[in-house]
Amino acid sequence: MRILLTGGSGRLGRSVAATLAARGHDVTSADLAPADTGPGVRSHTLDLLDESAREDLFAQVRPEAVVHLAGIAVPFARPDTEILDINTRLAWGVLAAAVRHGARSAVAASSPTVFGYGTAAWRPRYLPLDEKHPTAPRHSYGLSKVIIEETARTLARAEDAGCTLTCVRPGYVIAPEEWAGAPTQQGHTVAERLRDPELSAAALFNYVDARDAAELFALLAERPDLAATGGAYHAVAEDALALAPLAELLPRYHPGAAGPASALTGRRSAFSSALAAERLGWRAQRTWRTELVETVSEGG
Ligand SMILES: NC(=O)c1ccc[n+]([C@@H]2O[C@H](COP(=O)([O-])OP(=O)(O)OC[C@H]3O[C@@H](n4cnc5c(N)ncnc54)[C@H](O)[C@@H]3O)[C@@H](O)[C@H]2O)c1
Repeated sequence: MRILLTGGSGRLGRSVAATLAARGHDVTSADLAPADTGPGVRSHTLDLLDESAREDLFAQVRPEAVVHLAGIAVPFARPDTEILDINTRLAWGVLAAAVRHGARSAVAASSPTVFGYGTAAWRPRYLPLDEKHPTAPRHSYGLSKVIIEETARTLARAEDAGCTLTCVRPGYVIAPEEWAGAPTQQGHTVAERLRDPELSAAALFNYVDARDAAELFALLAERPDLAATGGAYHAVAEDALALAPLAELLPRYHPGAAGPASALTGRRSAFSSALAAERLGWRAQRTWRTELVETVSEGG
């Protein structure tokens, strides 16, 4: 398939580009930053908020599928209104262009932060969180992701062009080099994140290997027939990024979640990706226990 990937120069985008190329697709990456995407991937450097440059790109590539990752990827990384403005305008611009230009599928990156965790007062209705749990963002980044999901649903309702629009909520993305000690999105290493639970508590101890998440983006792009249009899918590792069960750890950092957290015994994650498993046969293949190069003992 001809696939247009936005944000292909980023932490997740590099793995998505490599995965799509390895699966035999004709991949074009579009990003503000030049891409070092490896063999089989064409790279365009442009601002996707520039409407005429974006239109030219779509007319040139004529994508059969679009994977949209470009955006501000970190809460509080920019002023609130900028995050909201950039992420939502990018999503509408790219997804609407995908429909208009005849793509059969378009998959956008959302985020588990749509659930609004991160304060002591946060009270989930149940754990692990699945796609049926209500969203309730608490910052502009999380709100931008709720709007991106609604954008996909709105376009799916409004257009009758045969394009299946879906979203993926990847866990805290760990790129291949980060298993070997490179800094993660927050600046610390994976081993530090494991040793100091406070670092991982902010993301409810979730994570996913970038290559595993990339497989779900690829499956949704390739098999729109298996996905419900407008749907969102979790892409999270089955175990938690933690040295102790979340039934013990979560109540320390999220006292409001103490009741539902009692279900998270053993290695269980606070998120379920069962929907992606049922619909698309996707499961995260990699866990920190097999990928992390440095030894971190589970005794503490
Ligand atoms: N990293 C994570 O843990 C994580 C978790 C959940 C969701 N996500 C989402 O996945 C996506 C990718 O995340 P990432 O970690 O790879 O982020 P990243 O910051 O590494 O990559 C984002 C890319 O988007 C590009 N971009 C931003 N604005 C652009 C514009 N106007 N035009 C063209 N390109 C533009 C940037 O240059 C960058 O290369 C984001 O949408 C993010 O919100 C990431």
